[in-house]
Amino acid sequence: MAKTQVGWMDYLPELVRNMESPGLLVVSVDARGRPNVMTASWGSIGVYWGLPMFIAPIRKSRYTHGCIKRTRDYTLNVLPRKLAELATFCGTVSGRDHDKIAEANLTAARGLKVKSPIIEECVLHYECKVVHANAVAPRALVSEIERVHYRDADYHTYFFGQIVAVRAEENLRRRV
Ligand SMILES: Cc1cc2nc3c(=O)[nH]c(=O)nc-3n(C[C@H](O)[C@H](O)[C@H](O)COP(=O)(O)O)c2cc1C
Repeated sequence: MAKTQVGWMDYLPELVRNMESPGLLVVSVDARGRPNVMTASWGSIGVYWGLPMFIAPIRKSRYTHGCIKRTRDYTLNVLPRKLAELATFCGTVSGRDHDKIAEANLTAARGLKVKSPIIEECVLHYECKVVHANAVAPRALVSEIERVHYRDADYHTYFFGQIVAVRAEENLRRRV
């Protein structure tokens, strides 16, 4: 199915709905140049410094964390409904010891403007260049959130990704 470039606000409801469930596929590249994919349900989209931005909170323990830190870009990919169960797989095994893209029969394809590839089988793609990253500051966090989410001190880093390209499949609203 043909994909075209679209505006970053054109499919916000589809992006946010799929973020919540089943989760977005975040793709980055490791030190060996191998693409890796993980599932992410948290994030936000908006405007910072006058630029369209996605903020991806990624815990330090994720293989993806080191990949994004090094490459300083990532892509977000929305799965079609019929492949939604892959979000569980990509969100429960690590790229440290799995080639998830091969094991899930997915295809990494070149991005238009970033080094991280997109996942061809997905229907909506955001390419993001990291312009800022900061870790959760435990002292600035209310104790309730600290207690519930960070017992093991595995804090998130917020990767502020400037959205530099968005592509969508023509019939995506029927497929998500
Ligand atoms: C539905 C779902 C949503 C998730 N959302 C996030 C998230 O927003 N941030 C995060 O750091 N981990 C999240 N995870 C966990 C990672 O996807 C998981 O730890 C994954 O195995 C990391 O892969 P990696 O080690 O290859 O980077 C989520 C997992 C699932 C199943």
